[in-house]
Amino acid sequence: MIPKELERAFNEQIKKELESAYLYLSMAAYFEHENLAGMAHWMKKQAQEEVNHAMKFFEHINERGGRVELFALAEPRKDWSSPFEVFKHTYEHEQKVTASINALVELARKLNDNAALVFLNWFVNEQIEEEASAQKIMSLLERIGDNFAGIIMLDSELGKRE
Ligand code: FEO
Repeated sequence: MIPKELERAFNEQIKKELESAYLYLSMAAYFEHENLAGMAHWMKKQAQEEVNHAMKFFEHINERGGRVELFALAEPRKDWSSPFEVFKHTYEHEQKVTASINALVELARKLNDNAALVFLNWFVNEQIEEEASAQKIMSLLERIGDNFAGIIMLDSELGKRE
């Protein structure tokens, strides 16, 4: 049985993951409007990943006899000044998600909940990748600056995301 305190925190994390999905979908809408189809594609894939993250918490709570509760999602931001600003926001957002995963690890440790610790280990590794990919694209865009040909080339590259 999952401890109540952890159940509450995991339900909060479901909301955070779904808010991440909502944010990335909003970024996809921004890129579609800017005619940057590759970046829009990348963000749609990212939004799908976030729904998968939320579902992992959903299943874990259920498997351990807990009760999933869904909370209202915040309306995401919808405008940015450039692709660089979008990926900077993505990188900063992922850093916040990492901090919330780390807080869950701390809580699971405090409660001596080994099942949760093993479960959270996947997220600890996933966050390394999440931060790294956003940071890499952000720093490429920083170097590209206003060079339109560079933006188009990166857009085409990001459109290949599986
Ligand atoms: Fe669910 Fe992007 O972390």
